[in-house]
Amino acid sequence: MFSHFKFIPFLQAILISSSLSQILCFNFRYPSFTSADANDFIRLNSSVINNVVQVSPVSRHSSGRILYKQPLKLWDKLKGTKSSFITTFVLNIRPLSTPGAEGLAFVLTDSAALPTNSGGPWLGIVNVSTININHIAAVEFDTRKSDSMDVDDNHVGVDVKNIYSIDQEPLASHGVNLSSGEDITARIQYDARSDDLLVYVKLTRLSEHDLGDPVIISHLDLSKNLPQDVFIGFSSSTGEYAQVNTVKSWDFISFETQIKGSANLLWLWILIPTVAVILVGGVGFLLYLRRKSRSKRNNDDEMDIEKEIQRSSSAPQKFRLKELKAATGNFNVNNKLGSGGFGTVYKGILRKQEVAVKRILKNTRHGKQDFIAEVTTISNLHHKNLVKLFGWCYESNELLLVYEFLPNGSLDRYIFRNQIRTDTDTTLDWETRHNIICGVAKALDYLHNGCEKRVIHRDVKASNIMLDSEFNARLGDFGLARTVQFKDKTLFNQGDCWNAGLYGSGKFPYRKPGHQNEQNEYNISIVEWVWEHHRTERITDVVDDRLNHDFDEDQARCTVMLGLGCCHPNPYERPSMRSALQVLTGEVCAPDVPTEKPAFMWPAMAPSLIGEDINNSITGGQLTTTTELSGR
Ligand SMILES: *[C@@H]1O[C@H](CO)[C@@H](O)[C@H](O)[C@H]1NC(C)=O
Ligand SMILES: *[C@@H]1O[C@H](CO)[C@@H](O)[C@H](O)[C@H]1NC(C)=O
Repeated sequence: MFSHFKFIPFLQAILISSSLSQILCFNFRYPSFTSADANDFIRLNSSVINNVVQVSPVSRHSSGRILYKQPLKLWDKLKGTKSSFITTFVLNIRPLSTPGAEGLAFVLTDSAALPTNSGGPWLGIVNVSTININHIAAVEFDTRKSDSMDVDDNHVGVDVKNIYSIDQEPLASHGVNLSSGEDITARIQYDARSDDLLVYVKLTRLSEHDLGDPVIISHLDLSKNLPQDVFIGFSSSTGEYAQVNTVKSWDFISFETQIKGSANLLWLWILIPTVAVILVGGVGFLLYLRRKSRSKRNNDDEMDIEKEIQRSSSAPQKFRLKELKAATGNFNVNNKLGSGGFGTVYKGILRKQEVAVKRILKNTRHGKQDFIAEVTTISNLHHKNLVKLFGWCYESNELLLVYEFLPNGSLDRYIFRNQIRTDTDTTLDWETRHNIICGVAKALDYLHNGCEKRVIHRDVKASNIMLDSEFNARLGDFGLARTVQFKDKTLFNQGDCWNAGLYGSGKFPYRKPGHQNEQNEYNISIVEWVWEHHRTERITDVVDDRLNHDFDEDQARCTVMLGLGCCHPNPYERPSMRSALQVLTGEVCAPDVPTEKPAFMWPAMAPSLIGEDINNSITGGQLTTTTELSGR
């Protein structure tokens, strides 16, 4: 599972654009830890055993730390820069008794030394006499309620120079039991401009496509609490009871952000992960600069957002908040059409026309970036399979988008059973479904090849596919979309393949609804599930049984095979969206897909690039497979 998902942050991180630049500081990636990798780390009571890092000894009353040898430049006073970073890791905690103890933490620290007596509740972070003295920040995964300050014995927390968390969140309601011995994927994302620290936690076996919403959004200026150079790594401890605290894989990417000299309102992130050096050149990220004065922030933001939106060639209309409040009955719950991700959508009547108004969740930095991306991206796009944006509004800290209203709602309502909103019993027939798939493919082909700038949607899923009165697909929600300009023309196709596979057809609605007993199986991976049907030559069995076998068998086979082709673990093997469209229209045959799902390879390579390095990659793939099996 991990094998799929780990592609995503990487690509999310690199698929972006504009005109200025931000530099990648350093990044590294350990899909597992070999004994040779052990030399990359400062190990303090920790070890690399059986391809995993055992952060502290299993025995009682111990603590340990493992730190990457090269320190991270967290900020640079002279250059006026700060570093943003994204780190993703898989941790596995196995108590050897009930209850267990104590937990594990991701740390940024000035000191490579392990404080003595930092076992027990201290998690190897500080000891009783170094509280507020050691310069250390941590995200703790705490498996024991050590004192009244801990919410429970299964929580994640953000700690600064202390083990009392400035923010903490119990994990039970997020479906995670840290002590269960299951693999858990965590991501920590720090934006140096907004000082937002986001923590994501999800069971690894359920994290194939995404890590969901952050469990903690903490506001923390790391540069105020930590020195310019910090070590990054993990610490953990045991107390009265023995426990195995391990980290199985670890990715880290950081970028330098100019903070001083606010002449430029726009910042661009060009990331060049070492792996991407082989594959792709640079790309960028559009973000906003955080203004210094808090009181002026809203006004400045309003102006910034307006300026940014006006820049785009066909700026959409700006609406007044008053007008949108009136249109939606002051955002009356009865007008609610749906909610998710970063906002709620309301139905409204605006200037005698039915509209859908998306109200973006307040106070998330992410929300504003999404907002600008969405307005500027979509307003330059015109295609019959894209949702139309009428306008926008940003007032009193409210971010709102106004779209055309689509009477038939989103596709997820029709294809997944056990929906919360079962306001429809309509079963879409095969022809309609095929037409929807074609519509989405046309929209994506337009985004990838047909418009001025290449646009990567990055969030194609059933809930973002709206249906008009004739059930034609309209792709919406461009909150995560980014435009991309590859300098090197030869790289165009590769980018296209990635997009088609990962964000496009990879998530097409082939999910077989119903089938309770199979639910868990394909929660783990719909791709594996469909591939298994392909292997056993029962591929059309994956078609929704509500169609009662009333569908064009050849067309269905062809479509599902195409879907598998678009999920090929090696992105270079995936068809471009252009060829996907040709398959759907029957112009060319579906791609040949191996009956056994190929092993995941990292780094992904174009067939011509596969050379001597392949041994390492294949080892990586097999290890991943092992992890998958044990994860079930
Ligand atoms: C805390 O750690 C420091 C540094 O290792 C050490 O000098 C000090 O004695 C420790 N304090 C206690 C109470 O163990
Ligand atoms: C978490 O998992 C452990 C180990 O399987 C178990 O003892 C404990 O009861 C679980 N906690 C919850 C809240 O399910």
